[in-house]
Formats: sequence, structure tokens, C-alpha cells
Amino acid sequence: MLSPTEANNLILFHLGDGLRARHSVFVGYVMDHLAKLLGEDHVHWEVTGLCHDLDFEVTAEDRSRHGLLAAEWLRDELPDVALVAIQSHDHRTGILSETKLALALKLADAIAVGELDVGRCHDRGSERRLTPRSIGSSAISAALPSGTNHPTC
Ligand SMILES: [Fe+2]
Ligand SMILES: [Fe+2]
Repeated sequence: MLSPTEANNLILFHLGDGLRARHSVFVGYVMDHLAKLLGEDHVHWEVTGLCHDLDFEVTAEDRSRHGLLAAEWLRDELPDVALVAIQSHDHRTGILSETKLALALKLADAIAVGELDVGRCHDRGSERRLTPRSIGSSAISAALPSGTNHPTC
């Protein structure tokens, strides 16, 4: 199984350090927190979140392959439950999964998309390093119990 550091290196390789990379790191961050809240393996969930959009650029012309190609790349690196979560996170693949991991990934993805849509984590031109703390979000407050510590943008 990949470590978070290895997953971040894959993000840099496949997505660079632009908006989709920041989105992926944020999804990993949310997944880490959701796993801790639910008593799940937080490293496994974080890595799944980090890797969920690795094929985003190369599937731009055919989103029915988005997640499927990433899962193929990762087939020897992640357990099946993570691969299926990645395959099913975009409805256009037609793959369905209702495991806790798959449902959490869809939630984390939606939270992250919303954050970027309102521009709270839009860090254009910044020289900041790509880290979970560099793209933390105030919106996660809506998804986590009050009093939960989290970074802000
Ligand atoms: Fe995606
Ligand atoms: Fe995503």
C-alpha cells in the first residue's frame, strides 16, 4: 500500500502543483479526518483521497474513463476497496459502490469541489508548498463536529 508521501509524489507526477493537485491534497485531508471520526484506517483513507483524481488530465476527453484508468495504474498499490472507491467516485464511469470508503470519497470530493468553486482555496501564483495545511478549508467545519481542529486557508 502506498504511503501518503508516495501518493503526494504521484500527484506531483500526474497533476503537477496546480488546481487539481490542490483539490486532491484537500480530498486526502478530508478523508483522513473522516476516517478518524469513523474509526477507520486514516492512512488508507487519506491515500485513497490523494489518488482519486490521478488520471484527471488524461481522461479530459472521456470522463467515462475517469477513475478507471487511475485504478488500473494503482492495481498493485492499493487494496480492492480503494480501487473500487476510485472507480466509482465519478458517476460517469457507471461503477457503483456503497462501501463506507466509497461514500466518504464522494463526500470529500464534493466538499473539495465546493471549496474551489467559491475560491476559498484558490491559491493562484503562490509559491507555497503543496501540503494539506497549505490548502485547509473553513468549509470542513460544516462536515466535522464542532470543536474539531482543522487548518484554514
Ligand atoms: Fe474525479
Ligand atoms: Fe476529485
